Amino acid sequence: MESSSSSTHFATCFLTALSISLCIISSTSAARDLAPKTNTEFIKTSCSATTYPKLCLTSLSSHASTIQTSPKLMAGAALNVTLSSAKSTSATMLKLSQRHGLKPKEVGAMRDCLEELSDSVDELQSSIAEMGNFKSYDFQLMISDVQTWVSAALTDENTCSEGFGGNGMNGNLKTAVRGQIVNIAHLTSNALALINRYASVHG
Ligand SMILES: *[C@@H]1O[C@H](CO)[C@@H](O)[C@H](O)[C@H]1NC(C)=O
Repeated sequence: MESSSSSTHFATCFLTALSISLCIISSTSAARDLAPKTNTEFIKTSCSATTYPKLCLTSLSSHASTIQTSPKLMAGAALNVTLSSAKSTSATMLKLSQRHGLKPKEVGAMRDCLEELSDSVDELQSSIAEMGNFKSYDFQLMISDVQTWVSAALTDENTCSEGFGGNGMNGNLKTAVRGQIVNIAHLTSNALALINRYASVHG
């Protein structure tokens, strides 16, 4: 009798302790999930206003903790992602252009493209620098500079892609290069939309 009541007591305590710890676990994980969920929602909402929302989501979701719910950081992260993609494509293309066996026409298109990509990298870098340090009374000036540079970057990327549109070029090379450039152009277009969004909420 004695032992049965004490084991009942033990079972009750054990269950109570278990449910308390489950409560603690579930409440801490709820608190932990709350912030990232808000950040992810913010990214989804902002991306839905871009021309390539899927690409926007896949390229920026991993930056959710940096972006939080800031339109400025969202635009900044989009520019960063675009810049690093433009830089790495540029490096890949430089290697490709030095490969033997390319036709003169292909080498020419590659060189033109590399120059346009390099301009595009400069314009993206200037935009990032300008957005990082401006006096608050210069907001309109800063935004209009950034809009101009990012639009110019987009034009350069499109020019590069068009240079690869002609006949007489290796099909695989054409597809590979255009695929990469189009991806950068889409990232750039999304960044521009996010910059415009930042400008509109800033007033
Ligand atoms: C963009 O990149 C710079 C340099 O790496 C970094 O300092 C900055 O925090 C990044 N900005 C965002 C919004 O991710």
